[in-house]
Formats: sequence, C-alpha cells, structure tokens
Amino acid sequence: MQSKKITIAIDGYSSCGKSTLAKALAKELDYIFIDTGSMYRSVALYCLRNNLVHNNEIVVSEIINELPKIEIHFEKNPLNGKLEVQLNNEFVEPLIRSLEVSQLVSKVAAIKEVRAKLVEEQQKMGSKGGVVMDGRDIGSVVFPNAELKLFVTASPEIRIERRFLELSQTDKSINKEEIRKNLEERDYLDSTRAESPLIQADDAILLDNSNYTQEKQLEVALNYVKSKLQK
Ligand code: DC
Repeated sequence: MQSKKITIAIDGYSSCGKSTLAKALAKELDYIFIDTGSMYRSVALYCLRNNLVHNNEIVVSEIINELPKIEIHFEKNPLNGKLEVQLNNEFVEPLIRSLEVSQLVSKVAAIKEVRAKLVEEQQKMGSKGGVVMDGRDIGSVVFPNAELKLFVTASPEIRIERRFLELSQTDKSINKEEIRKNLEERDYLDSTRAESPLIQADDAILLDNSNYTQEKQLEVALNYVKSKLQK
C-alpha cells in the first residue's frame, strides 16, 4: 500500500478479537503492532511475583512505590521473531495470559499512576505513526488524533468461546463458566473505572465481528485503512 503511515487505534472489550485484527493489519501494512494489554498484564505479573497482592487485593500505595522499578518495553523475541513485551528485560509471554494475571489486571489498570506511566511509553512508541495499537483507551486517550479508530465488539457467547479456545491450549482445567465470570468482571471494571474507562471514541468506527471470519474482519478493516490513506 501507500508509503504514508497512519496511526490505527483499536479498542474494545476483552476477547473481542482486537489483537488478532491488530496483528493481521500490522502484518499486512508492515506497521508495528503494540498490544497495550500486555503492558498492564506485565505490571500485574510483577505485583504477583513481588507480594503486592494480599487476598486478591492490591495495595495501591505499594504499587506506586514500586513503579520506578518496573520497566516495560517491546523487543523482538529471537525464539519466534515476534515483537513481544518485556518486564525488566524478561520475555513474559505466555505467563501474562494466565487466569491469575487476568483476575488481577483490571485492578492494576485502574490505578492512575500505572496508566500515566504506560500511556507515556505507548505515546513514545507510536510517535512516528505506522503503528497499530490495541487496548481500551487508545482512541480516547493515547492517540486521540489517530487517523483511524476502530471499536471492535462481538457477542458474549463468541467471546467466551474464543477465550476458551485460547486458554484451553495451555490450561486443560479451564472451564467456560470461569471465563464468563472473568470477562463480565473485567467488562464491568474496565468500563466503570474513574481513570480512562473503556469508551467508544466519538469518531471511532464500530466493527462487530460476531459473524466474521478473521479474513473477513481483516478485509473490512483494510477497506477503512484504504479510505483513510486516500484522503
Ligand atoms: O486486552 P487485554 O485483555 O490483554 O487487557 C488486559 C487488561 O488491561 C484489561 O482488563 C484492561 C486493561 N487495559 C487497559 O486498561 N487499557 C489498555 N490500553 C489495555 C488494557
């Protein structure tokens, strides 16, 4: 496609296929793909590892004190050639995908100071354009001027099924009820928190992929990209 490089913001609820779409778009356009959820997940993993979680609750002041010790960036993983998140220079995929991390991450993501630190990092990474970034607040806070904003959604049943397929590859004991509870809890926390709640930006395009294959979803999104590049 053209040499002009735009910024693409992809937001939406958990397990709606945002990352799948963002990854595919970045590959197709030769852009950088940044999964911002992996950054919040890495902070949650740090909290679990460093005893900052007591009875499933985090002490906000403890995390704030630890923030200077938490360094998060993306690096090409030599094992698979993919750009992956690093927590203090350690590749932390797939540890950050565990249910334990998923159960904590929305609480971590609700902390203003955590968000400020990660948003600053995200803005630096995307400052030159040519980036597809997925998250919850990309179109509303991180890149309010992004040329293309997509708000991805899918029905609850489809989301549960997709998460189940993903998690059951590494955790055979996982069940759909657990996943449903976790998704509902995170939807609630993500959309009602005081700091940068998940919202569809006014100028974001709604993309419901419940009945789309991954290929169809990519095709639809690429058409939006084309129309932005032609402007
Ligand atoms: O996309 P995900 O499920 O990996 O995201 C993990 C959590 O991080 C999710 O519950 C909400 C939070 N998050 C956020 O608050 N802002 C972002 N830009 C990305 C993720």
